[in-house]
Amino acid sequence: MSADNYQAIGIFDSGIGGLTVANAIIQRLPKEKIIYFGDTAHLPYGDKSPDAIRYYSLGIGKFLLDQGVKMIVIACNSASSAAYHVLLEFFKGQCLFVNVVDPLVQYTVKQSYKKVGVIATKATIGSRMYEQKLKEQQPGLEVFSMATPLLVPMIEEGFFKNEMSHNIIRTYLDHPGFRNIDALLLACTHYPLIKNEIREILGPSVDVIDSIDAASAEVERQLTVNHLLSPLAVPPEHRFIVSDYTPSFEATTQLFYQQDLHLEHYSIW
Ligand code: DGL
Repeated sequence: MSADNYQAIGIFDSGIGGLTVANAIIQRLPKEKIIYFGDTAHLPYGDKSPDAIRYYSLGIGKFLLDQGVKMIVIACNSASSAAYHVLLEFFKGQCLFVNVVDPLVQYTVKQSYKKVGVIATKATIGSRMYEQKLKEQQPGLEVFSMATPLLVPMIEEGFFKNEMSHNIIRTYLDHPGFRNIDALLLACTHYPLIKNEIREILGPSVDVIDSIDAASAEVERQLTVNHLLSPLAVPPEHRFIVSDYTPSFEATTQLFYQQDLHLEHYSIW
């Protein structure tokens, strides 16, 4: 791999939910330049087949590599579950890759929980990736997984911290499978926005964990061991690109990124 420190980090998601991950990386590594790609033309990935998600992810991987990135962060659990291994194989040696599943799994198995719950999109739950990896790394851990497909559109419409969101989340979490869990894994990059609400519903005896901290720490670790941390002295200008533009996407970015940003439209297909 012939990357250099000044190259950007590419980050992608099906849309704008992955901005939660981009934000965490920018906070942790303020000298790094970010090129974010949200595949708004094809969202949601959570309802797509693994083949479709792989096809979109390969197109985005090529686009980001053409922009000269030193690392690609798959800031989407659905794409991490379906396409991480394909991206690694296809673009072998061309840049570093970080997905959002492995860091969360590694964090979880260090906590010596007896039972955990996992909520995510249909694509992530259908892949059984979390269940397999958690049980591989901590045999005996009880895992109850459930797809919660109403949560992504609910969050994107700005419906959280209100009665409607409370009822939807509570209805999902009332499932008997979640009884006696020590922790709930938020295996979708949209869900950090409802983390506090979920904490209130589950109470203090259940840890509620998302992948943001673990994934951004993994980005720092990989850049450090590969001597690829940016030496820039001034904060760089980031780019935020989407494959389909509407003013409503731009308005919604505020929710996930917590500050205004300008979306560039670029059609890669
Ligand atoms: N943010 C994506 C994830 O982490 C879900 C959004 C979608 O379904 O496109 O899986």
